[in-house]
Amino acid sequence: MFNRYRIISICLALVALVSCTAVPTDNSSPAPQTPAPQVSAKMESADEIKLRIGPGDPVAGKSKAEMCFGCHGEDGNSTDPETPKLTGQYGSYITKQVRDYLSGLLTHQTMGPMAVNVDDEDLYDISAYFASQPMMKGAAPSNNKLGKHLFENDDLPRMMVSCKSCHGITGKGLAPGNPVYPVIGGQHRDYLLGQMLKFRKGIRNNSTGGVMNTTVHSLSDAELEALADYVSGL
Ligand code: HEC
Ligand code: HEC
Repeated sequence: MFNRYRIISICLALVALVSCTAVPTDNSSPAPQTPAPQVSAKMESADEIKLRIGPGDPVAGKSKAEMCFGCHGEDGNSTDPETPKLTGQYGSYITKQVRDYLSGLLTHQTMGPMAVNVDDEDLYDISAYFASQPMMKGAAPSNNKLGKHLFENDDLPRMMVSCKSCHGITGKGLAPGNPVYPVIGGQHRDYLLGQMLKFRKGIRNNSTGGVMNTTVHSLSDAELEALADYVSGL
């Protein structure tokens, strides 16, 4: 009974997140009237790209982002496998993560101190710059069958809602206007695995309602590795 109750609350939280999240837009750009469909990166329209970028100015953001290039790459394609790609990531998600490092909700020995260096306006613009770059993509698709199975299917007895129901079938997020669920498809394998291990251990606790902690709680090391293989190839 307890498990079922938890699963229902997770699903309700999920529905609430999907329907309530709105990205602030400025007055000159009216928000689209209808919710955009689930997309793959290739098919994003101009309006959808605008929603992905968020409230900042991507042009002003480029020079402000120089202090991030050394680690995250000039176009957001970092080469170090433990430093996340930011290219095509949701602008509002990038902003939220940097604020989480600033508040101490997230901690990291190199990224933590970096967060102190950006004020709010600069952060919106920097986030917009990285979000406006082409969406991240894996070098080659993975044929990891276990990873694909776990990504696409619920395992409710273990309180695991499928990854695709929040991150989208290609791991590029659920909908362009919803920055709650980050782009994970095409991210570095080692970074993905590292974050999932942190969620499982409870070292990372910043997902809404603890959804990520619940999702990976009962997955084994081998299952997390399979997921990292599969997701990094998307
Ligand atoms: C000295 C290297 C370094 C610099 C400079 C740096 N970062 Fe990072 N950043 C990292 C590392 C490493 C991580 C991964 C931390 C972890 O594993 O928790 C990270 C994580 C992040 C994340 C989380 C991404 C995600 O997918 O959740 C964001 C967002 C981010 N950095 C933005 C920035 C921005 C914006 C700047 C410039 C103001 C910047 N970083 C500068 C090394 C750096
Ligand atoms: C109920 C919704 C939900 C489900 C299901 C879900 N996620 Fe997440 N996931 C999130 C949210 C929300 C975040 C963002 C947390 C934050 O704001 O920092 C996230 C973040 C992540 C991150 C960190 C990304 C980064 O850039 O740091 C990874 C990796 C991830 N999820 C992998 C998965 C995998 C693999 C699955 C399936 C086993 C999964 N997620 C299922 C909601 C979900």
